[in-house]
Amino acid sequence: MTGLIGRDLLGLADLSRQEVKDLLQMATQLKSQQLKLRCEKVLGLLFSKASTRTRVSFTVAMYQLGGQVIDLNPNVTQVSRGEPIQDTARVLDRYLDVLAIRTFAQQDLVTFASYAKIPVINALTDLEHPCQILADLMTIQECFGDLDGLTLTYVGDGNNVANSLMLGCALVGMNVRVGIPQGFEPNSAVVQQAREIAGDKSQVILTDDPQVAAKGAHVLYTDVWASMGQEEEANDRMPIFQPYQINDGLLEVADSEAIVLHCLPAHRDEEITDAVIEGTRSRVWDQAENRMHAQKALLASILGAS
Ligand code: CP
Repeated sequence: MTGLIGRDLLGLADLSRQEVKDLLQMATQLKSQQLKLRCEKVLGLLFSKASTRTRVSFTVAMYQLGGQVIDLNPNVTQVSRGEPIQDTARVLDRYLDVLAIRTFAQQDLVTFASYAKIPVINALTDLEHPCQILADLMTIQECFGDLDGLTLTYVGDGNNVANSLMLGCALVGMNVRVGIPQGFEPNSAVVQQAREIAGDKSQVILTDDPQVAAKGAHVLYTDVWASMGQEEEANDRMPIFQPYQINDGLLEVADSEAIVLHCLPAHRDEEITDAVIEGTRSRVWDQAENRMHAQKALLASILGAS
């Protein structure tokens, strides 16, 4: 067990280096069925944004643990009618054992967690996507074994995935390079936090040159150029982000054994070419599957499954 019983996961830095390693090991053992855990608890999913992977992987993970899931779509609860976060939190706290929230502002998640005694999990905010990165690290570990000293290059928009990737890589001793156009950098406080976590074990580098970012990298990673809530900016962003596309040319400068990840959903031939996402270096389907195993390990740890 990882020592996470009863804890929130609001951002990746809520976890220590050892706790991330323990979660990845547990997720791997759950995936291979070397480890089997039961936990007859109830998970609530309070999602204010669309989701395929996160919603389904949390649901199936909880079912496989022997638990139940309630989908608390804001449109069918009083949340959409403006019930205050602190009231909703204190009520759901009396019914549920754990709650995963997908929302916009990180502060709303923090407020929710401060009023709920049950564990609260960040299922994506505008600032972070920690559950995604646990699955990403698991996928990289499956491909390369030891994570220590590997280099991951993220190219594209400095969004929630970029923020959590910097923290996740720093926690496991990986170098992370973020290739990003000027004006679209990741959150500066998170960059600072990632550099503090990395210390002298690894590097967190930002550059606006995608070729410099990708040179010799073991992992190339991207996400959509306009996140949920930024759709109206998508057309204006297209020419700015074009040089940051993951294509055969960028793959050429990476390590000869490099793998390609994308958190999905992807816009093919925008941030990643169809040829690369369907190509031999792509590990995106394993990455998507690992959402379920990583979140099962997280739920089992938080809920004290045995
Ligand atoms: N990667 C991810 O979070 O996917 P969904 O938006 O489909 O949950």
